Amino acid sequence: MDLILLGAPGAGKGTQGALLAERLNIPKIATGDILRDAVRRETALGLEAKRYMDAGALVPDDVILGLVRDALAEPEAERGAIFDGFPRTVAQAEALTGILAERQRSLDAIALLEVPDETIVERLAGRRTCGQCGRVYNVAANGESGVSRCDHCTGELIQRIDDAADTVRRRLQEYRTKTAPVVAFYDARKVPVRRVDGDRPVEEVQHDLLELVHR
Ligand code: AP5
Repeated sequence: MDLILLGAPGAGKGTQGALLAERLNIPKIATGDILRDAVRRETALGLEAKRYMDAGALVPDDVILGLVRDALAEPEAERGAIFDGFPRTVAQAEALTGILAERQRSLDAIALLEVPDETIVERLAGRRTCGQCGRVYNVAANGESGVSRCDHCTGELIQRIDDAADTVRRRLQEYRTKTAPVVAFYDARKVPVRRVDGDRPVEEVQHDLLELVHR
């Protein structure tokens, strides 16, 4: 099973992708998480990517495609993967077709999480991420005082630099100009893009996604 989760920043791709990965027992390949890990480890790739990420701009396609190839070469990805935050440009989408074909695979499902901009801005202002394990929280759901430590690994919860209001605006702009055309790209192909209302409780969205993959 190879599945893409599309959607604007803050639409819930990471949240839903983590739940799906557990249910389907396949890895989530989240290019944003891979990049943040490289930034934390201060690798050459991380240092290059950080400039783009902090500004809310997309990282160049060749860098991203190298990361995805490496992730798909891992044994755990042999049975499939959930792509979260990838592809984000039409060039990445075209390349993914080829990368999967090299492995005699093709996409099984594509879901687009639809969430209004005002909800996105609220969600990203309240997002906190565990600095150790990457688990995602929201102060709106837990209350500011209830989310200082990760309840999974007790790591410190931090606010992403790119969740600052100005940077969120830039990310939404990048989404509209570079990633929205990816939806049109897939709409014109044989695997349909399923629209899922992402502005509902996490469990309801997850229910619809599971239905979609079991179709
Ligand atoms: P990336 O990490 O992929 O960021 P993004 O796409 O902007 O998505 P987010 O992680 O912000 O949101 P999400 O949809 O995962 O939502 P989440 O589940 O966390 O990319 C970061 C940067 O890396 C990019 O800007 C770019 O620079 C670079 N990059 C990454 N991939 C790239 C690529 N392929 N090409 C080029 N550059 C790339 O939820 C958000 C919040 O809402 C959380 O607090 C969560 O708890 C809450 N929430 C989730 N669902 C619900 C719900 N149903 N109801 C209420 N609250 C909810």
